Amino acid sequence: MKAAEIVQLKEQALDEARRSGTAADVEAVRIKYLSRKGVLPGIMDGLKALSAEERPEAGRRANELRQELTKALDDAKNALQAAERASGQKRFDPTLPGQWRGLGRRHPITQVVEEAIRIFSMLGFTVADGPDIETEYHNFDALNTPADHPSRDTQDTFWLGPGLLLRTQTSPVQIRVMESRKPPVRIIAPGRCYRRDTTDATHSANFHQIEGLYVDRAVSLADLKGDITFFARQMMGADVKVRFRPHFFPFTEPSVEYDFSCHVCRGRGCRVCKQSGWIEISGAGMVNPKVFKTVGYDPETTMGYAFGMGVERIAMIRFGIEDIRHLYDNDVRFLEQFG
Ligand code: DAH
Repeated sequence: MKAAEIVQLKEQALDEARRSGTAADVEAVRIKYLSRKGVLPGIMDGLKALSAEERPEAGRRANELRQELTKALDDAKNALQAAERASGQKRFDPTLPGQWRGLGRRHPITQVVEEAIRIFSMLGFTVADGPDIETEYHNFDALNTPADHPSRDTQDTFWLGPGLLLRTQTSPVQIRVMESRKPPVRIIAPGRCYRRDTTDATHSANFHQIEGLYVDRAVSLADLKGDITFFARQMMGADVKVRFRPHFFPFTEPSVEYDFSCHVCRGRGCRVCKQSGWIEISGAGMVNPKVFKTVGYDPETTMGYAFGMGVERIAMIRFGIEDIRHLYDNDVRFLEQFG
């Protein structure tokens, strides 16, 4: 190959090097021209066939080709790497783990509250609300629990000054609702409650209840049992059993407590139900006529039932959580298992 041809070939090679869009292109150009079986060794071999006058010039041009092309290939490679760095992108590697954006989930307590709202709204209940910082009057006195009443002992709480406290139960929402409207009333009131309780596997100083209140002209304990059983089956599954036991609350007469059969062991007995097969869910009863009188309802023509259930208890059996503290640790590794 003569000198002029070699120069032409060099221009072509340099052009190919500059147009390389990827590292693989650069390598392909190198192999094509510079590898052992490439174009350049062929030119070198061909020098022998040239005349003595042509050979030195052709040899010089061939050397130029090698030097300039090597440099052009290096430049192309560096430029590609710089561009990659500048755009912050690595070459796509489908074998690397993807970038994971953690999806939020609703807390188990929120899930239970939202499910309860869904279920009770099927029965015509709406959602009512009350303050966490309550008056002593709404939390106790209006609920037929005067200062000397022994049931206040089990509901010691955080007092914020005379007559003001963190509510120990959601029952004061009953009073607030009845103070502000006439019967019929059909509400549930989910919310936080506070007690001076020592924390253990089933107690927390800060917990949630869902209060329910149904007031009309003719409401009976049978309505309470029917509605609670409907709720239990919707919340826990059709095979859950509900058990009502006599109890005492100052603001209901008669009063009951009710239990759900333990969903974790299906009633056989486990740590969650303390081997009894049952889990206490709620207090309930027929609204005491004294409470109606306090809020200005006529106790002669008004009847109602009320309940206040523990949200954490329901979450624990629904999700099989053995310790109430897990619900308050804010450990995402725990919380992301639910929902
Ligand atoms: N507030 C009660 C408690 O925390 C539970 C309760 C009992 C609520 C009877 C009620 C009720 O509405 O009628 O122990």
